Amino acid sequence: MPGGAVTTMGTVDARRIEAPVTFKTYLMCAFAAFGGIFFGYDSGYISGVLSMDYFIETFEGLDKANTPTDKFVIPSSRKSLIVSILSAGTFFGALIAGDLADWYGRRFTIISGCVVFIIGVVLQTASSTLGLLVAGRLIAGFGVGFVSAVIIMYMSEIAPRKVRGAIVSGYQFCITIGLMMASCVDYGTEHRTDSGSYRIPIGLQMLWAVILAVGLFVLPESPRFFIRKGRKEEAIDALARIRDQPRDSEFIQSEINEIEANYLYEIQVIPDEGYFNSWINCFRGNIFHPNSNVRRTVLGTSLQMMQQWTGVNFVFYYGTPFFTQLGTISNPFLISMITTIVNVLSTPLSFYAIEKVGRRPLLLWGAFGMVICQFLVAIIGVTDGQSPKAVSAMISFICIYIFFFASTWGPGAWVVIGEIFPLPIRSRGVALSTASNWLWNCIIAVITPYMTDADQGNLGPKVFFIWGSLCACAFVYTYFLIPETKGLTLEQVDKMMEETTPRTSAKWQPHSTFIDEMGLTDEKSTAVPQVTQHEV
Ligand code: BGC
Repeated sequence: MPGGAVTTMGTVDARRIEAPVTFKTYLMCAFAAFGGIFFGYDSGYISGVLSMDYFIETFEGLDKANTPTDKFVIPSSRKSLIVSILSAGTFFGALIAGDLADWYGRRFTIISGCVVFIIGVVLQTASSTLGLLVAGRLIAGFGVGFVSAVIIMYMSEIAPRKVRGAIVSGYQFCITIGLMMASCVDYGTEHRTDSGSYRIPIGLQMLWAVILAVGLFVLPESPRFFIRKGRKEEAIDALARIRDQPRDSEFIQSEINEIEANYLYEIQVIPDEGYFNSWINCFRGNIFHPNSNVRRTVLGTSLQMMQQWTGVNFVFYYGTPFFTQLGTISNPFLISMITTIVNVLSTPLSFYAIEKVGRRPLLLWGAFGMVICQFLVAIIGVTDGQSPKAVSAMISFICIYIFFFASTWGPGAWVVIGEIFPLPIRSRGVALSTASNWLWNCIIAVITPYMTDADQGNLGPKVFFIWGSLCACAFVYTYFLIPETKGLTLEQVDKMMEETTPRTSAKWQPHSTFIDEMGLTDEKSTAVPQVTQHEV
């Protein structure tokens, strides 16, 4: 239980009824995943742009014809500033978004994020100097922060439990599509000899924000937000639209009552006593208890940290310059594009696996696969890094590594942070976890050029020893700390975390409802003999 104590549950069966998942429900949940497109696109276009001749000439004031090849580059300090400033903006955007989502709603915050993002993109598109470009990326980052923090919570809150993992993985899928599109657009414009070379890839992003904002305008608000605000009638309306059922259907009554009972239960334990307290609540309890609030917050933030420690953004942000550095590759842009295509094609595997295999095994296997691939890249690189055969082998293992990331840790980290927080601290918990993703994203973006650039640390492929070791940490981390949440409602996850440890969590079965626990009645739900299982 949040705060640390373990409750004894009643003996009443965990009977509740659930609406069938209709096509319309799928469509509504899946649309929200579109937010991933501009997350991915925005973080992805920069790698290619930084290597474009026209961009280097404009922003560095260099003339390619009269500059030695090794000097015709963006220096490490500016490269790291341009790349990382987006993540810095996103970090703060994600933190602010947690509050806005609780005050004004999930939808409002996402739509505002789109507007802020468009302003940032306009500035970037207009820029021909470093100052404006950096300011634009910082502002756009704020917008991405709003969207990335809140959309995960919105999707987790509206998706039916059986497909929640798959729906949130759809968000990751959109991130990968965004990254791939950015890379394809870069590839298409890199040879232009006018400002369109960088302005087209930058400006195009506005389209994604417009589509998301219009879509969200039409979609309903999260029923859990309304319950939190004490607006039960609106919660029922919203849930009825999302589940594609009449508002007086027993499915809707049963689900809304359980959400409400869970909320009432949680605020008994975590009273909502003002602004600062609501943040402090995220850090209450005993860190050693798997169910304390502080443990959940540490779990969410460290999971996102671990996801960044896998080194995936080294490939997506600095892939083009890294492949250029390997020497024997004729078109590094193409190789970068291939890595993004592998990323897209591998992600759908997770839609199935995350519900079938579960979150814990998926993260364990993913970390294991990544460790092997990264050590192989590093070993090949240090033993025979220059020969074309060795370079091809390294690129192949980088692609297999991306396969493991995309089908496991990519979606898994987002799915789990959407599930582990109880409603009173959910928006802040998810916001803190998302901010952690961006903080580590930013740290890695800043330090990587210093580790790998020829005139700096010059690690070259040896950098994969570092990523491989960090993935080994991710394996151990998952084994000891990640609970299994598949097949449970968000309210059941809450209860499961009260009663198990991460290693025993997969065996837990729902055995009571919050309606029972709070002594509330739910005549309709107790009449139906369908028992929810901790499996799909
Ligand atoms: C990560 C991003 C990464 C992307 C790659 C996401 O889950 O959070 O940092 O660029 O996956 O597909």
